[in-house]
Amino acid sequence: MAGYRPWDQDHARFIVAGLASLEGATLPILHALQDEFGYVDPQAVPLIADALNLSRAEVHGTISFYHDFRTAPPPRRVVKLCRAEACQALGCEALVSGLARDHAIAVDDQSGSGEFAVETVYCLGNCALGPSALADGELIGRVDGDRLAQLCGLTGAHA
Ligand code: FES
Repeated sequence: MAGYRPWDQDHARFIVAGLASLEGATLPILHALQDEFGYVDPQAVPLIADALNLSRAEVHGTISFYHDFRTAPPPRRVVKLCRAEACQALGCEALVSGLARDHAIAVDDQSGSGEFAVETVYCLGNCALGPSALADGELIGRVDGDRLAQLCGLTGAHA
């Protein structure tokens, strides 16, 4: 998740202005903002509406229609947990339940902008050594509850 700059309204305005003359500019602008900042801040809505002569409701509607757009900063750290068939057979669903039970963390929860998120992936090519996870580009096999908690930076990990 590294590489995004913090939201900057002036820079956002510059991006919007640079793309506003495109045909159907709303989506290219939203993608450009998300590429730059990691999300589309609600402050972008009036900028886009004014530049494209749209209502704020129309811009907001587009943002909420496409689930790819985030409206809050992305988590600093993302742990990808494999939940495909082989890792299921090796207990990944127990890890998902354990996160919910022991740490009140929901996998694939898009609502927050917390320090970290745990996201589902389907096969990391490490099936024989599952359950598998990917964190900071590192592939980890035979993940157990303690290791997963540690990867998430949660206190109380015993790994
Ligand atoms: S099924 Fe999990 S790594 Fe392949």
